[in-house]
Amino acid sequence: MRQRVRIAPSILSADFARLGDEVRAMEAAGADLIHVDIMDGHYVPNLTIGPGVVKALRPLTTLPFDVHLMCAPVDGLLPAFAEAGADILTVHPDAGPHVHRTVQLIRSLGCRAGIALNPGTPVEVLDYLIGDIDLVLVMSVNPGFGGQAFIASQIDKIRAVRARIDAAERAIDLEVDGGVNMETAGLCVAAGADMLVAGTASFAGGPAAYAGNIARLKGG
Ligand code: DX5
Ligand code: ZN
Repeated sequence: MRQRVRIAPSILSADFARLGDEVRAMEAAGADLIHVDIMDGHYVPNLTIGPGVVKALRPLTTLPFDVHLMCAPVDGLLPAFAEAGADILTVHPDAGPHVHRTVQLIRSLGCRAGIALNPGTPVEVLDYLIGDIDLVLVMSVNPGFGGQAFIASQIDKIRAVRARIDAAERAIDLEVDGGVNMETAGLCVAAGADMLVAGTASFAGGPAAYAGNIARLKGG
């Protein structure tokens, strides 16, 4: 049993016409966080939602909002998401221009700071950030779309990040995002992940299936 893993359903796979109900249903189903994918049509080719939607959802759940910003530049957007009720703000270091400054800004806004590594981004980018961050997000697909296939080479990267977090002796979450399903979830946890984002696999089958989906992703 993988008791300790937390599941963050990505609302990218929710029914956007019923978004509030979807978030409430996921909380009732046992989700641990709500993962919110922010795409700017520039850093990634897709476009999603802004802080207004996060603000509208905030009163509907007590779950933390895990906001993943696929935006470049990102700094100017961060205060609005913090104000809207984000708990975690995760950014891509290659979104620029100055990722260390971005991490400082996130923390000054009272949020937890996450760094996302794309499949082609080496773990060394963490070297001078690991003392200042609260979460590492290993992307197991290239960012931009839900429903993509898990890139198996990222299992080694999860192991490498786990080793760095353990060596840092700080409370840093290790989250995996992209193509996480009932098969790949176990591989991620075995490699050292303690948080899993799942869009397609969480929302498959509609609300009646959510509790079962979350339980299976947790290894139950
Ligand atoms: C991809 C997003 C993911 C995505 C995951 O750019 O960051 O959070 O929604 O979707 P699935 O679980 O369907 O791969
Ligand atoms: Zn994401």
